[in-house]
Amino acid sequence: MAPRHFLDLDRFETEALRHVLDMGRGFKKGEANGSRPLAGKMLAMLFDKPSTRTRVSFEVGMKQLGGDVVTLSSRDTQLGRGETVADTARVLSRYVDAIMIRTTSRRNLEEMAQYATVPVINGLTDDSHPCQLMADVMTFEEHRGPIAGKVIAWSGDGNNVAASWVHAAVKFGFELRLACPPELMPPKDLLEWARNQGGKVTLTHEPLDAVAGADCVVTDAWLSMGDEQKGEVNRHNLLAPYRVDERLMAAAKPDAIFMHCLPAHRGEEVTGAVIDGPRSVVWDEAENRLHVQKGILAWCLG
Ligand code: CP
Ligand code: NVA
Repeated sequence: MAPRHFLDLDRFETEALRHVLDMGRGFKKGEANGSRPLAGKMLAMLFDKPSTRTRVSFEVGMKQLGGDVVTLSSRDTQLGRGETVADTARVLSRYVDAIMIRTTSRRNLEEMAQYATVPVINGLTDDSHPCQLMADVMTFEEHRGPIAGKVIAWSGDGNNVAASWVHAAVKFGFELRLACPPELMPPKDLLEWARNQGGKVTLTHEPLDAVAGADCVVTDAWLSMGDEQKGEVNRHNLLAPYRVDERLMAAAKPDAIFMHCLPAHRGEEVTGAVIDGPRSVVWDEAENRLHVQKGILAWCLG
């Protein structure tokens, strides 16, 4: 039987994603307390990039479900000396029951999934961050009820997290308005996919237009991991007009919430007044990574 990978939200039926969310909510409520559904199971976590939340929430989640983890950075594996991802996938599959990988290119993730005989979970690539979006949908719904039909506004870089928001908008049926500088728009093929799927995803360069009447305002760092090395366009100048401040929040619905996947940079993509203010749900959002990923682990490991 083919392993149950968790690679990107666009590959799932909505029902499967809803099922994972329901499991996550159940774990949060403590429904599995005392049972150890993943007893004896081992998760390998491979990191090509740094992480606080993903690393700790997967480790704690796995242990709370009775399993255990092995954490590797590519520097201390033979991947760092040129062993292929395919061979690494084949070998790790002989030792562990699932693999979580945070890497640069989607190609590495695909190769891992192609050659692993155990489930592979996408812990972020340059192109997407699906575990984050599962936590974000869970968090939105805890605070504001069903997300279908609601309006979410993204103001900032059209990055990996924005891409997963596009996937989520299509799968969960909400309207997504992206405000990004022309130089930092999400990939064209992604937006085309959303259109073909009948998704309500719109694009603007004017943050005030995007947030008008929105139920939620979201942003992310101006520099994603790896962007530092690209030495490209001056992102700070391009993105300053997209900063989420109180003026921008005032244009959203009066009860609109603020979300950010973290890590945050106060004074850059968001002001301290917003992220530390009453409308911010970022700590719930970070907490929900733990609960929803327990749902993902339980789904992947059957
Ligand atoms: N949001 C998120 O994935 O955080 P980490 O980079 O700390 O894992
Ligand atoms: N866009 C950010 C998300 C970090 C969780 C990055 O890729 O660095």
